[in-house]
Amino acid sequence: MIDYLDKIKHKKVLVTGGLGFVGHNLVNTLLDTFNCEITVVDNCLNSSPDILGENLSKITFINTDVLNIEAYQEVLNNANYIFHLACVQIAASSKNAEYDLEVNALSTLRILEYFKKNPSGNLEKFIYTSSASVYGSSTNLPLNELSYPQVLSNYAATKLLGENFTMIYGKNYGIPVTSVRYSNVYGYGQSPKNPYCGVLGKFIDSALNGKELPVIGDGEQTRDYTFVTDAVQATIIAAVHPMAINDVFNIGTGVEISVIRLAELIKEIIPSIHITRLPERDIDNIRRRVVDIEKIHQKLNWTPIINIKKGIEETINWYKSNLINSKD
Ligand SMILES: NC(=O)c1ccc[n+]([C@@H]2O[C@H](COP(=O)([O-])OP(=O)(O)OC[C@H]3O[C@@H](n4cnc5c(N)ncnc54)[C@H](O)[C@@H]3O)[C@@H](O)[C@H]2O)c1
Repeated sequence: MIDYLDKIKHKKVLVTGGLGFVGHNLVNTLLDTFNCEITVVDNCLNSSPDILGENLSKITFINTDVLNIEAYQEVLNNANYIFHLACVQIAASSKNAEYDLEVNALSTLRILEYFKKNPSGNLEKFIYTSSASVYGSSTNLPLNELSYPQVLSNYAATKLLGENFTMIYGKNYGIPVTSVRYSNVYGYGQSPKNPYCGVLGKFIDSALNGKELPVIGDGEQTRDYTFVTDAVQATIIAAVHPMAINDVFNIGTGVEISVIRLAELIKEIIPSIHITRLPERDIDNIRRRVVDIEKIHQKLNWTPIINIKKGIEETINWYKSNLINSKD
């Protein structure tokens, strides 16, 4: 595997949405571990360049909407790897449905059309970051990549469309592509103010700020929580591995964890916290979800390293050092 990872060293990389939660972790790894020459395209919709700290001065930052490809056309021409992460998150997706469609799907189509019309000898891989949300209400757990998508939200629909465009342009026009489907990523650098921060980030933020942990419904809703360093590592492997070409991979842990279990794990570390109950909400009405990671394990030899207990500890420590006085 090490040989494949070497492929990305010193390469020219474009990261759209590179100031976001996963994006800035990816940028930091590509810089610090692989010495890549990085351009970030981000319109700061729900993020800020400050998140990159000292690394901001080591990248080229283009503050523009990802739809505005004229503003970064030159970068497209030169890029060896493109990680397309810019997105409208699930919590915002139905509020501005057309913009959600534009950012999650149309921007993908625009970039792929650009390469169809202007084939680039430089491009080694276009990576689309999809979501386990595309499985929707599919109940065939654990969800493998062939599980039939039964989408339940605008976000899932537009992420699936972006992924479908990616695969179509890979197969029909010879653009080297891979799509990865993340399952509930958490960890370093996830702002609890981000509406898609997810239950874990919000719980930890509440716990550290002396607030109650609100468990929605009976707390038996399950998800597969992926630590961000694992998600980043898997994404880079999917970019460089020759067996990943024109294919879709789940990125998760294969472990199903309930919301109440998350709260209990946090309570083991911070015993003073109180757990309360709230009524059900309707933005992500899926009772159980866990992904099958056998494909990425078998084809790309990737397995997650951080289990949920360790991941929660790491996240608590990060929040303590960085967000302890966060309000709301
Ligand atoms: N975080 C998760 O648990 C998770 C799960 C499944 C899939 N994903 C996917 O992974 C990718 C990264 O997710 P994240 O959690 O880092 O999201 P995020 O919301 O933290 O980051 C998204 C970034 O995209 C930028 N952006 C939004 N609209 C833009 C536009 N029109 N032009 C330019 N930039 C724009 C935002 O400013 C932000 O910096 C997304 O594609 C998302 O769909 C994430």
